[in-house]
Amino acid sequence: MARLAGKVALITGAGGGIGRATAIRFAEEGAKVVVTDIDTTRGPESARLAKEAAGNGGGDAIFIETDVTSHESVKAAVAETVAQFGGLHILHNNAGGSTMQDGPVTEAPDEEFWRVIKLDLYGTFVSSKHGIPAIQASGGGSVINMASNVALMALPGRDCYTAAKGGVASMTRSMAVEYAPDKIRVNAIAPSVTLSDRVKKLVDESPDIKKLSEQHLLGFGQPLHIANMAVYLASDESEITTGQILSVDSGVTIY
Ligand SMILES: NC(=O)c1ccc[n+]([C@@H]2O[C@H](COP(=O)([O-])OP(=O)(O)OC[C@H]3O[C@@H](n4cnc5c(N)ncnc54)[C@H](O)[C@@H]3O)[C@@H](O)[C@H]2O)c1
Repeated sequence: MARLAGKVALITGAGGGIGRATAIRFAEEGAKVVVTDIDTTRGPESARLAKEAAGNGGGDAIFIETDVTSHESVKAAVAETVAQFGGLHILHNNAGGSTMQDGPVTEAPDEEFWRVIKLDLYGTFVSSKHGIPAIQASGGGSVINMASNVALMALPGRDCYTAAKGGVASMTRSMAVEYAPDKIRVNAIAPSVTLSDRVKKLVDESPDIKKLSEQHLLGFGQPLHIANMAVYLASDESEITTGQILSVDSGVTIY
């Protein structure tokens, strides 16, 4: 039995990396998947790959161009999801990411602070604002936010990203309490270094990030490792898991 049969999932930033891997895994598990992204080349490609992975198992995938920092854009994407697939059960707030412009507070530019706060934290707020009412109307489900190991441990040199992901982790807990009466679980995944194309480039450019491999007890992660946690959180198997920040981090937060 497919683990996500009968579920409709919307994933933000699913044009690449972790979001793409998750779209593919969700479709394999029988979900109807809405791939959203601002990238109109990579987004449709993710939807095509997810649809292909679904085979005849009941899963499906479509692409909707969406900017998570725009109320209008997200609202339209949620409406289109409900029109196409009849409801929404899973919202995966995945869009986000750090850049090499980040740094310690005394050095990082204001622009980078507001960029990452806007994309990672405000984007999660905006997508939840429009996604949750659709999940309520569908009888409940699961919101999966994307935190990071930086929300759980000190990782010097990335204070903008750390602030944004700390906000996501904290908001995950309050949302879990707020929406439990509607049978909506809210959790966050906290990956450590995960080799999406974007992060592969960061690792190549930054000796500091490369050095982190020494603390990753089982090596750097792959997008599939994070996607598999998302499948658990999206499925009914996580029925009483809520308000948690779940590390998928090769042991880096305990070493
Ligand atoms: N890869 C890692 O090492 C790692 C570690 C911890 C947490 N994370 C988190 O996981 C998530 C995915 O990371 P990734 O490495 O797969 O990133 P990625 O860069 O491969 O994918 C992010 C996607 O978000 C899209 N995007 C950017 N701005 C957007 C917007 N305004 N609206 C909609 N989509 C937008 C991009 O086009 C891209 O396709 C991010 O939230 C990131 O912070 C990643």
